[in-house]
Amino acid sequence: MSDKAQLHIGDQSFDLPAIEGTEGEKAIDISKLRDQSGYVTLDVGYKNTGATKSAITFLDGEKGILKYRGYPIEQLAEKSSFIEVAYLLIYGELPSEQQLHNFEYEISHHTLVHEDMKKFFDGFPSKSHPMGQLSSLIGALAAFNPESLKSGLTADAVNLEIIKLIAKMSTIVSWIYKKSLGHPVIYPWNKYDYVTNFLHMTFGQRTEDYTPDPVVVSAMNTLLILHADHEQNCSTSTVRIVGSSDANLYASISAGISALWGPLHGGANQAVIEMLEQIKADGGDTDKFIAKAKDKNDPFRLMGFGHRVYKNFDPRAKIIKKACDDILAKLGVQDEVLDIAKRLEEVALQDSYFVERKLYPNVDFYSGIIYRALGFPTEMFTVLFALGRLPGWIAQWKEMKENKEPIGRPRQIYVGATNRDYTEINNR
Ligand code: CMC
Repeated sequence: MSDKAQLHIGDQSFDLPAIEGTEGEKAIDISKLRDQSGYVTLDVGYKNTGATKSAITFLDGEKGILKYRGYPIEQLAEKSSFIEVAYLLIYGELPSEQQLHNFEYEISHHTLVHEDMKKFFDGFPSKSHPMGQLSSLIGALAAFNPESLKSGLTADAVNLEIIKLIAKMSTIVSWIYKKSLGHPVIYPWNKYDYVTNFLHMTFGQRTEDYTPDPVVVSAMNTLLILHADHEQNCSTSTVRIVGSSDANLYASISAGISALWGPLHGGANQAVIEMLEQIKADGGDTDKFIAKAKDKNDPFRLMGFGHRVYKNFDPRAKIIKKACDDILAKLGVQDEVLDIAKRLEEVALQDSYFVERKLYPNVDFYSGIIYRALGFPTEMFTVLFALGRLPGWIAQWKEMKENKEPIGRPRQIYVGATNRDYTEINNR
């Protein structure tokens, strides 16, 4: 598209290039606007700002569409595996059988973490939050992989760090779980596939073969695939912006983990279960909590509802809701909080407050109920989100590097005090 947008300010006018993405998304390129006119744009929270051109994930919030590299999330969740999706996100194409085998082989042969890393676990207080541990431990991997700090690494050297990070993250996540129980860690066993190995280190025994329930393996694969990427959200933008300073992969991902932790982002899955437990403990009156969520003087929000970009439905939530019903039925789990969740959803979907604001259940509304049924404690939920999001973060970091994007550095509109003279403390 060669259209131009025209911006009129007073009696001046400026031509701005209009661009269009492959899915028809339209944008006005304002990158030269300040040089042309002296103006910058203001968009707090980046609600209407494209920060990059990306070929990884497309989503249409109005139509409820999510695709990784052009493949609909529904097809990937049903037919693919997490590791195949990770390959697709990172390298751009579905792998051949041989490519997938090689990728899995490389990952399974890098799952051991340096023995000295175990000492970190002794230093963390026994009740420390798993997300704090995860971001520290992933950042610490840079210290154990000093070659990753060098600038101008070859593509093969970068790829090795990517493989190591994917492999070691699952070991670290399961060890964080073991630490929370005070149990000894279980070492990876490279005869297993990625998800089975993770479940073996998390729920298996030290010396015995682990035979996972196929229902559990399939549920983990689905959850990890649904979380694997979500274009330029808070944590992904963090990863790209940290990486844009040429910070190493581990530091960039560690920053993304910290960004994910907040309850408005990945931390919502923990917050949803805590909210449902709170409603249950209060007698289960969902109407009371719907009223609280609508009351502007009450800080209470319906966690797991609403999304910055999905204004119709979250396609991930649709898949996960069905998976939740199936998994609970197959595992024979009765969960009272699921009944509360369903009542809450039913009431909210008909309430004009939620309808007018286009607030629908998001992916986190049901993911926590599945994690709970699989046996994970609530504080581990966001760590599991991070495990799923890792390939997306890596793909976005790699794309940003390959596109040679400049360092991220937003502008601001200064609204503070202007010139003031310093006064001595005894004169204030
Ligand atoms: N409960 C009650 N009211 C809400 C909620 C909610 N969960 N979410 C938004 N609103 C209201 C909000 O008060 C505002 O009302 P008004 O126009 O009267 O001031 C309106 O809806 C628009 O909300 P917003 O905060 O301006 O929207 P946003 O795009 O800045 O925030 C959000 C999106 C996801 C942070 C927000 O909907 C929210 O806090 N949801 C609960 C937390 C949550 O579930 N987060 C997980 C998101 S999915 C996982 C991920 O990808 O991160």
